[in-house]
Amino acid sequence: MSASTVAVIIVAAGSGTRLGHTEPKAFVPLAGRTMLAVAVDAALGMQETPHLVLVVPDGRVDETRATLAPVAEVSGAPLDVVAGGASRQESVARGLALLPRLVDTVLVHDAARPLTPPLVFDEVVQAVRARGHGIVPALDVVDTIKRVDADHRVIQTVDRSTLAAVQTPQGFPREVLDRAYAAAVTEFTDDAAVVASIGLPVDTVPGDARGFKITVPADLRRAEAMVRERSEPGSTGHEQPRRAAGGAPGAAPRVGTGVDVHAFSEDPTTPLWVAGLEWPGERGLAGHSDGDAASHAVVDALLAAVGLGDLGAVFGTDDPALAGAHGAVLLTRARALVEEAGYRIGNVSVQVIGNRPKLAPRRAEAEATLSAALGAPVSVSATTTDALGFTGRGEGVAALATAIVVPM
Ligand code: CTP
Ligand code: MG
Repeated sequence: MSASTVAVIIVAAGSGTRLGHTEPKAFVPLAGRTMLAVAVDAALGMQETPHLVLVVPDGRVDETRATLAPVAEVSGAPLDVVAGGASRQESVARGLALLPRLVDTVLVHDAARPLTPPLVFDEVVQAVRARGHGIVPALDVVDTIKRVDADHRVIQTVDRSTLAAVQTPQGFPREVLDRAYAAAVTEFTDDAAVVASIGLPVDTVPGDARGFKITVPADLRRAEAMVRERSEPGSTGHEQPRRAAGGAPGAAPRVGTGVDVHAFSEDPTTPLWVAGLEWPGERGLAGHSDGDAASHAVVDALLAAVGLGDLGAVFGTDDPALAGAHGAVLLTRARALVEEAGYRIGNVSVQVIGNRPKLAPRRAEAEATLSAALGAPVSVSATTTDALGFTGRGEGVAALATAIVVPM
């Protein structure tokens, strides 16, 4: 993991009052993942690997780290997660306080704009470096704008040619942002305003309509539809394959299955990992890696779907790099192989077979973790075998997975 000179602070600590969901806004599901996970993907799609800082609601720090650290790790991006404050500005300040010395360019991005294309991040970085001051992505205002009074009476038409609707990520030389935040005494709704408040310039670059902010329920429905559309075969969505696609145009989706079994370890100190999660207090599974049968079954299903064989064939069962490796690391590697083969993952279903651990209470967490690693929805189910067989006798855990992949 090399040190980054660009940092992206993703603010995700808001409650999302206007969206009115039970979860804080950034944790609301979007395409089977969370809004925050989708936003993280966009930042990790940048040309230059950023130092990522995620600012989340108090009480969500550990969960966020557990879910998204493996995703950042695969891109080699250093990751910090911190609790936010009462206002957006305070949340940004908390993220800023964490940046390592080496960082000279900072982008601040709203998790509420998860579909902002990575290219916008790159363009902002480039413009900050070229011009040496603040840069915000902006769109022309298309509606006619009126100034109105408290009685809803129109006072005046504002000349819209002098207006711009600004988005995030907003980028700044690090010392500019540090200085502006240190000086700020009033609350502003974006970072450009904080910087402008100490009299420093901010320029615009073209924004992107896909970077719209999810604020009310209709925005979320629009985002869902956009994700569906961009992942359809032949779509011109911004998620381009990393390499030349091997899936022939118009080729059919492909399906794969995988099964894995691990015995419980004799060693009572072995930690238990199943479905990408650690299960404290439970006896662990034996294996060269972390013994996570569910993750391994999913990897096998994915590799089989693209015709690459299985886990042993691709990674080798004694690869020293995989000693103790967690399922999520294997999953992200499998995802990269699927994409290199010209496919994207449609969805995955995995069933865990065994008496322990009891999956139900942490099913959502397991699904979020596996989905984040794969960038696609993963459903997790579980069953016992009515006391029959090795799983029924509590000798080990089995898992069975099915994956579908779609040509890109
Ligand atoms: N944000 C934050 N900390 C806060 C308030 C907002 O990190 N105390 C973040 C949000 O998570 C969001 C971004 O700032 O990604 C823009 O804020 P907004 O869209 O207003 O989100 P919320 O404040 O969550 O929504 P609402 O205003 O509807 O409650
Ligand atoms: Mg708000």
